[in-house]
Amino acid sequence: MILYNSKKRIFHLCNDEISYYIFINELDIPETLYFGEQLDSIEHISALTKKGLGQEQYLDYQIGQEYLSQSEYRSEVSRTELSSHGYKDKRGTPILMEHGLKPTDFRYVSHDIYEGIKPLETLPSADKKMCTQYQTPNNDNNVDTLVIRLKEKFSEVYVNLLVSIYRDKNIVIKNFVIQNEGTEAIRLTRAMSMQLDLPRTGYTLHQFAGRWYQERYEEKVELASGVHEVFSNIGKSSHHMNPFVFLAEKNADFEHGEVIGFNLIYSGNFKFRTYVDYYKNTHITYGMNDEDFEWQLAPGDIFETPQAVISYSNVGIDNMSQNFHRFIKENIITYQKDREYKPILFNSWEGCYFDFNTESLIRYIEDAKKIGTELFVLDDGWFGARNHTSAGLGDWVVNESKLDMERVIEVCHEYGMHFGLWFEPEMVNVDSKLFRMYPEYVLGKKGRDLTMQRHQLILDYTNPKVVDYIFDQMCKILDHYEIDYVKWDYNRDMAEHVSNFLPAERQGEVYHRMVLGYYDLLEKITTRYPNIMIEGCASGGGRFDMGTLYYCPQIWTSDDNDPTSRMNIQYTTSLGYPLSTMGAHVNDFKIGTYKAKSELAFWGTYGYEMNPNKLTEEEIATLDTTANAYKKYHADVIENGVLYHISSPFETRYLCMQSVSADKTKSVFLFMTKAKILQENRFFKLRGLLKEAKYKSSYDNLIYTGEYLMKVGLNLSELFVDAYTTELIFLEPIKEM
Ligand code: DGJ
Repeated sequence: MILYNSKKRIFHLCNDEISYYIFINELDIPETLYFGEQLDSIEHISALTKKGLGQEQYLDYQIGQEYLSQSEYRSEVSRTELSSHGYKDKRGTPILMEHGLKPTDFRYVSHDIYEGIKPLETLPSADKKMCTQYQTPNNDNNVDTLVIRLKEKFSEVYVNLLVSIYRDKNIVIKNFVIQNEGTEAIRLTRAMSMQLDLPRTGYTLHQFAGRWYQERYEEKVELASGVHEVFSNIGKSSHHMNPFVFLAEKNADFEHGEVIGFNLIYSGNFKFRTYVDYYKNTHITYGMNDEDFEWQLAPGDIFETPQAVISYSNVGIDNMSQNFHRFIKENIITYQKDREYKPILFNSWEGCYFDFNTESLIRYIEDAKKIGTELFVLDDGWFGARNHTSAGLGDWVVNESKLDMERVIEVCHEYGMHFGLWFEPEMVNVDSKLFRMYPEYVLGKKGRDLTMQRHQLILDYTNPKVVDYIFDQMCKILDHYEIDYVKWDYNRDMAEHVSNFLPAERQGEVYHRMVLGYYDLLEKITTRYPNIMIEGCASGGGRFDMGTLYYCPQIWTSDDNDPTSRMNIQYTTSLGYPLSTMGAHVNDFKIGTYKAKSELAFWGTYGYEMNPNKLTEEEIATLDTTANAYKKYHADVIENGVLYHISSPFETRYLCMQSVSADKTKSVFLFMTKAKILQENRFFKLRGLLKEAKYKSSYDNLIYTGEYLMKVGLNLSELFVDAYTTELIFLEPIKEM
């Protein structure tokens, strides 16, 4: 809901749990009065402004005395929605431009309030393409939007500040749309999505940093005076830092304390920047990274910034996570069959890499069936001259000397399985027909030595011809063969951000236009093949973000299947993203048993990567047991359930998570050790159950009330086990005690 007090010029964006107050002050500057837990009294807010939240000075001056007010207004410590630039406030504005001069100062012109949220034209955005089958009831009415139109004081540049608030979840979406209504082109040099100024500090920033094989490890940073940045500048959201971050007040835990989460519906370079100023405000700007960014905005043009998503909780980390989970499932993912059961997948990669033929794949399919496989995926190596990483990328034609694809698909169908195929549409090897034909189709100045990574170059997706060329190639395969799933990979970082297609004055647009090209191709493919499920991937989890999730309902979480890393990665990823989006496979990595590895993979979209011909009868039985449990519980308890984190593998010697079905009648609990543990009193208090209901625990076959399990806890005291041991415990409803 959005209320407007026109006398006081105060907007109140609220739902049952949160309030966001924005005030248009006497200088027409939009100030952030309050963002947090629901707060009713607008009078009280008004009094606060009179008393001053650090910006009392302007009230002493009359409206109209522009220069006097301008010169005395304490913009350097006030909390505004869009900082000026080149005046007193040096904390960093989200929008920078050159329009003759560099200083900018945006003032209120008008506003609009409407039900719903308008989709962005150029980027994936919330509720853009609602799932037809699984649309949430009355979705159109579940979100309201405020648009504040601002004008730069000395030029004809306008900015629409958009803020949407959901009625049924604690989610606020912010972004800016910049319009050049002047007669001269302007040069945008920073176009971030939002600013949020909080009137305090002392927050701990949780960031998810890593690298290939070690994605999204949680790090905690105590914010101190000055700047802290979480960013990517390698062309993708990256392994190095994930765009998901959250701020937590001191001593916040899973169930207590104020926690504010942030994410961006974008897959390229980003920057989350905090500046704790000398007044102890926390000044947050978030959006596309401005490093090497420049955008020519011609007269009449508009520039849309990606939507930033804020999830607020005053009851701890899990509520912030659950809001993101619901938002991603209900308002981001567009794959029409999302929220249905996700098939058990067998991926050929780790079992045989490039070394396969029709017969060996058929043997894989036969044995993969025994462990519950429902979707067989042929990974890298099926096309062109691709028998190693040095050749063939870009040539999307079946390598018929190696493979009879029709036959492989036929066998899959005989075994009742679907079939999926790997692509890496944005890349090319120098040793490929594509590169030999069109050397100008790659990023990097023609004629110079280009930076290789994994023997490959990046195709120039700023050029629509290149996107169309790859689209045609992919269509030839997807039209000809019966394909139910595509794994969409991206295996290098961007080095030279130089396009042979764009003119010199537009080279600052390369990073963003590359992301637009990625979305363009995804849009084309998903429109033409709405039933094909696409799994995102970038050397493991290097592009795990909301922009990708818009098209790809699941993303390969990491190439690292070592149980310790997996525990960490699955835990941290699940803080920001739903379990149903996380590709999780069992492999034959030497550490950990198949029981443990499969029971951990159960907490994602379950699959395998191994040589299935080598499995013993006993191993097959173990994996099949977990596969059956996945089939039974995934849709209700994991895909559409509510997730609770009970203990973090970063803080204890084990990982514990619990997921509860939406009707609260069923639950699954995971206990997985990271190191050897001794017997000790260990009662895990469960959450989200029905107090009066009775549940039978598969751990000891005893019957407990929900109240007992939530107040006393599940007793795992007697466990004395080695590292990487799991207990996967199912709680089933029973009628009688
Ligand atoms: C990187 C992915 O993360 C792997 O799963 C696999 O698909 C390889 N690429 C194939 O080249």
